[in-house]
Amino acid sequence: MPKSVGLSKDKNWWRQAAIYQIYPRSFADSNGDGIGDLKGVTSRISYLKSLSLDAVWLSPFYPSALADGGYDVADYRDVDPRLGTLADFDELLAELHKVGIRIFVDIVPNHSSNLHVWFKEAIEAKPGSKARNRYIFRDGKGEKGELPPTDWVSHFAPSAWTHESVMGGKGNQWYMHWFAPEQPDFNWDNPEVEKEFLKTLKFWADRGVDGFRIDVAHALKKDLSEPLRSLPVFETLEERGNKGKGILADRDELFKIYKQWRKLFNQYDPPRVAVAEAFVHPERLPLYASTKTLGQCFDFRFIETPFEAAAYKESVQDALELALKNKSSCTWTLSNHDQIRHATKMGLNSAVDRRSWMLSDGTSHPLDAAAGTQNALAATLFILALPGSTYMYQGEELGLHEVTDIPASQIQDPQYLRNNKMDKGRDGCRVPLPWQKSGSSFGFGTGGAHLPQPSWFADYSVAAEENDPNSALSIYRIALGLRKSLITEEKIKWHKTGNPSVLHFSRPNGWHCITNFRGESYPMPKGEILISSHPLTNGKIPAGTTVWLKK
Ligand code: NOJ
Ligand code: CA
Repeated sequence: MPKSVGLSKDKNWWRQAAIYQIYPRSFADSNGDGIGDLKGVTSRISYLKSLSLDAVWLSPFYPSALADGGYDVADYRDVDPRLGTLADFDELLAELHKVGIRIFVDIVPNHSSNLHVWFKEAIEAKPGSKARNRYIFRDGKGEKGELPPTDWVSHFAPSAWTHESVMGGKGNQWYMHWFAPEQPDFNWDNPEVEKEFLKTLKFWADRGVDGFRIDVAHALKKDLSEPLRSLPVFETLEERGNKGKGILADRDELFKIYKQWRKLFNQYDPPRVAVAEAFVHPERLPLYASTKTLGQCFDFRFIETPFEAAAYKESVQDALELALKNKSSCTWTLSNHDQIRHATKMGLNSAVDRRSWMLSDGTSHPLDAAAGTQNALAATLFILALPGSTYMYQGEELGLHEVTDIPASQIQDPQYLRNNKMDKGRDGCRVPLPWQKSGSSFGFGTGGAHLPQPSWFADYSVAAEENDPNSALSIYRIALGLRKSLITEEKIKWHKTGNPSVLHFSRPNGWHCITNFRGESYPMPKGEILISSHPLTNGKIPAGTTVWLKK
């Protein structure tokens, strides 16, 4: 184990932190059952330490039937036996804290699993009962109540309503679920639900958890006043606008809940932190990121921003302006467990329709994997130099690509199964990590992997990259280490480059970042070169490369 350094005392540690998302089932398997687990994460603490991280965020590890990769939680205050025990969690937290890494857990407050004890009670109970009132049960329409109560749509199924009989209910009601039918939505108008989640947050905060990632933070409150309004398609963020009166999301009443959560967080020293996953109109983001509510909010704009100078500059400017309004810090992210890996996106011609490409098992258009990884590293160094915190996703430090050819019979994601197989879903970025160049699951564990790993994973394994100074892993390690010592005031200044494909900005302490997006190599400005995401060509910055300088 690396030596103990403990946690920093800085209450603002989160403002410019490097946070690494672990998808526990796919990180490291300690007992050879093909499923990653908490002991697996603990066994890799030296690796996490080598990335100079401030925190890790664990996607759900709670008991779950995995109808949605663990985002269907059956018990919010326990560990899935396949992933370990609460004692294993405590051990992981203690070992992370010893090496100065904090820990976020994922809170999924919009919906539970249908296997949650409350939902099991609700299904058994009568209409109008206390048990049903924790969820959203309604009578159906039509002469015999045979039609769903409204036209609301769900993310993973055609309708947002399922008849109770599907879950074994004996009555004639329907229940609401914004995601899969196995993910019934809570009724947040019921104070019992509020109380229950305060208890869950306190449970983890008391155990020493430092932060919380809040799943679909915008959806807890709905307009449930009768008659329920019609909403046959998802509203766009523009349609929902900035009024705080969405039917199913982004309602003003939400902030009463988050203010209560904030009060709880502030009872700890240092105060617990939270980051909201909220898909809302940009003008509404400050409400979620306010210091009076959750404190920080994901900004997903770089997931969609094309790798081009003008688009990158605009994204940065918008995000910085927003952060000023928030009084929070910016959050930068290129990938997570819901997205096609960004190395792959950046290796595809931007005109390619990614969906049809995925559906063709990645064969319908050429992927330039090396260019993708190179651009991805340039993008990473660019965002790591910006003010604010960076949320990274496991495997991106290896320059890992999306696995596009998982056989249909092995796909687990409800996005695929429930969308008439029109969308390959998110399993391609959730394939267990390769640690070794060979072995049954490339060192992930001794008993195979719960999603199939392709043979090319060998070249992206930790072992393959560890001793190569130009590998993605080496660049991440050096850059993240440097970043720790370079972090300074949350400001940037743009410098003229005279080249529309090159961006150059600096931070107040003389830390400069120059990215050449495409075209001719760019002459190196004066200064001490700290790192380059790709080897220089005759001292110049080639296309798809970011350089950090100190002046
Ligand atoms: C967002 C999570 O990131 C995603 O994986 C999940 O499917 C939905 N929320 C529903 O919980
Ligand atoms: Ca295991």
